[in-house]
Amino acid sequence: MKALVLNAAKQPLEMEERAELTPDSGDVVVKLKTAALNRRDFWITRGMYPGIVYPIILGSDGAGVVSQVGEGVESSWIGNEVIINPSLDWGNKQIAQADDFNILGLPRDGTFATEVTVPESQLHAKPAHLNWEEAAALPLAGLTAYRALFSQGGLQQGETILITGVGGGVATFVLQFAVAAGAEVWVTSSSEQKIDRAVKLGAKRGFLYTAENWAEDFVKTAGAPSLIIDSAAGPAYDTLIDLVAMGGRIVNFGATLGPPDKLEMRKLFWKQLRLQGSTMGSPADFEDMLKFSAKHGVVPIIDATYSLAEGNTAIEQMKVSPQFGKYVLTND
Ligand SMILES: NC(=O)c1ccc[n+]([C@@H]2O[C@H](COP(=O)([O-])OP(=O)(O)OC[C@H]3O[C@@H](n4cnc5c(N)ncnc54)[C@H](OP(=O)(O)O)[C@@H]3O)[C@@H](O)[C@H]2O)c1
Repeated sequence: MKALVLNAAKQPLEMEERAELTPDSGDVVVKLKTAALNRRDFWITRGMYPGIVYPIILGSDGAGVVSQVGEGVESSWIGNEVIINPSLDWGNKQIAQADDFNILGLPRDGTFATEVTVPESQLHAKPAHLNWEEAAALPLAGLTAYRALFSQGGLQQGETILITGVGGGVATFVLQFAVAAGAEVWVTSSSEQKIDRAVKLGAKRGFLYTAENWAEDFVKTAGAPSLIIDSAAGPAYDTLIDLVAMGGRIVNFGATLGPPDKLEMRKLFWKQLRLQGSTMGSPADFEDMLKFSAKHGVVPIIDATYSLAEGNTAIEQMKVSPQFGKYVLTND
């Protein structure tokens, strides 16, 4: 098989020829058609992620066809078109993951390859309404968006919600899911073009987070959102605490800009706020996300598709985040 391998920190991925995979007990081999990138892959290549091991095949998202099954796995899986839930060893609690939770693509070899082995429990039928590229774009970002918005955020129909940095791979799913659920959706971005794209997808309007006083303009136009979904955090986090409605919720699934400079506890308790963390999702979240996507015909937004051999180009693009939606790698 072919695999894009990270052999050392801050080095390009190297295309290597490896022996064909064989599945362990309880596992299957999936011949991958497509994979997708996540911000995590970028952090790992930069050496900025806990528990990095070398060599490692990155990639949490993949779609393909089951080619082999290990001991204890029904042979009827062979030939099935599948996507992979990258949330491994979540455990049996919906409220949070178990201690040994991990994500496909570190420490276990991932999907930037022509084959991957995964536990049978991670397999789901490829959604019928998606092509191979779209199917690979869904798992990690769709799962993270679904849990942040519904399981943790408790989004209600008709609620006013703000999504920050709408160009992000997860944020575009938050947008699509929130619109499908009947929320009134507002967004921020660094780019007018991305805001225009978001409006075409159903957002009411957007604001440039790079503009001074964007939050004041926001309140004048939209009022105070009762739910904010954010993955940037950083110095601007205090602005979100000012912006959110009394009794509102702010859900974070990332901290792209690092920790907030300060956390004004007085505002937190006076406004009766709930600050909620969210990471990936449980097996139940994944199944619910697939059902929701199928019911509402949600089609992942793909910014660009590259061949597996062009994986480094795709990773380098993430340095400046010009994308709206996902980068996909294809083996065809
Ligand atoms: N906890 C989890 O399970 C989980 C899962 C997935 C991702 N994450 C984390 O969540 C973050 C986003 O991941 P992703 O895969 O969606 O990344 P991505 O596709 O690379 O998107 C990053 C986006 O961040 C936005 N951004 C940058 N600076 C911002 C600012 N000052 N204010 C608001 N938004 C800003 C940009 O939006 P615009 O382009 O619109 O300006 C950019 O497109 C990353 O930190 C990632 O590590 C966590």
